Amino acid sequence: MSEVEQNDEDYTVHYHLRAPHGLINDPNGLVYFNNQYHVFFQWNPEGTTHANKTWGHAVSSDLIEWDYLRPALEPTDWFDKDGCYSGSAFEKDGKLYLFYTGNVRNVDGERESYQCLAISEDGIHFEKKGPLFDHPNNYTAHLRDPKIWQEKDGYWMILGAQTHDLKGTTIVYRSTDLLNWSFEGEFMGALSDFGYMWECPDVLKLPNKDVFVFSPQGLEAKGDLYQNIFQTGYMLGEVKAGKFIPDKENFVEMDRGFEFYAPQSFKDNNGRTIVFGWMGAMVPEVEEAVPTIKEGWIHHLTLPREIKIDGDQLLQQPVEELKELRLQSFDLLKDISQKDRIELSTPEQEMNCSWNEAPASFTWNFRNEVTVIYEAAEKRITVERTNWLTGERETRSVNLTRSLETVQLFLEDSSMEIYLNQGAEVFSLRYFNDNRTNEWQWKDENWKDHLADLSVHELKRTIQFK
Ligand code: FRU
Repeated sequence: MSEVEQNDEDYTVHYHLRAPHGLINDPNGLVYFNNQYHVFFQWNPEGTTHANKTWGHAVSSDLIEWDYLRPALEPTDWFDKDGCYSGSAFEKDGKLYLFYTGNVRNVDGERESYQCLAISEDGIHFEKKGPLFDHPNNYTAHLRDPKIWQEKDGYWMILGAQTHDLKGTTIVYRSTDLLNWSFEGEFMGALSDFGYMWECPDVLKLPNKDVFVFSPQGLEAKGDLYQNIFQTGYMLGEVKAGKFIPDKENFVEMDRGFEFYAPQSFKDNNGRTIVFGWMGAMVPEVEEAVPTIKEGWIHHLTLPREIKIDGDQLLQQPVEELKELRLQSFDLLKDISQKDRIELSTPEQEMNCSWNEAPASFTWNFRNEVTVIYEAAEKRITVERTNWLTGERETRSVNLTRSLETVQLFLEDSSMEIYLNQGAEVFSLRYFNDNRTNEWQWKDENWKDHLADLSVHELKRTIQFK
């Protein structure tokens, strides 16, 4: 595996999972197997474009330190020759089953998709078993991203699909042995005007609530909503006999930032539901302008987020283990009142802020680049950055359901994740700015009233390629 030299001037990330080189996209096959967390990922090891998709493979015992293994799946067979596309993992009888989509361009250049299986005894070496079944005729060849979950009546597989009249949907299959699958129809009644393709569907089983997550393509922007090239969102409800019955037909975007896409969940050995997403989806011209391409790599995954349900709200919280990243901690509460800026020593930071009472409006600026604005009257958060292609400032916003109570912010040299109100809303974004500093600045003073906590932690660099 060739490796890229990094230096401190570049935009690399040091605790978000990235690929050693080349392009990374969706997290795949997330599983806790043989005492290790396995993160597979869509990986083009040969360049920074969307081609040659293999399943890259990283393992960890603690979700902090990662070892990279050889790719688990490579596009070497007739049924996956143009890419081992996204999919999921499932453990049965001590063996690890990977389900993925074989992407094929036939001799006429037309797309063919095969839902394939590969099995492993050790979680490292996989034996491909080839395609599992034929698809029904009601759908185009855009059929992909198998995700498996288990119910009392067997194993279920959900797939992203497209009808012949170019509407996105999802279909399900059922099995009792993970080998033989029967088609069981569509997972949820089609929503009207909801995109031309749904990618990376997922079903999360949480106490008293099921969550259907999917990534529709082709939604038109509406006010604050659907501002990115593609979206990812969820609905809460109940799965009954392979059908999803939503509580409300209300698709809620999972992340309000700029790049989040194609997340996948898994349950770990402690019963936690954890999600990794991809950062992420970009308009092609913007993607081509990402400065890390010069460094031989592009994109990374989100931090692992634990998913919880609070009433009718999904919460995403960075997993507890991330506290192990902390090197030095600074309590800023004592002397913050005199200051309008602070200088940090490294770009790898975590910030925690909470208030005893609803805060006043504020404008914070991080690293001479990302601005976070809170408008107290509307409980509105806006995150602003510079588009690295056009040079223009651009924003994403959301109105919170409750006043701001907590902000937890993870910062890297070109990446940021902002968790608000215990993860009720999250903004993820990349930023690339040659004039970035390590300074944080704020204009307003009243936000400092009622502060309960304001602390900053310098974080460890756990992912380095030298
Ligand atoms: C989502 C996606 C999936 C597909 C994979 C290919 O980002 O388009 O639908 O399986 O990426 O890399």
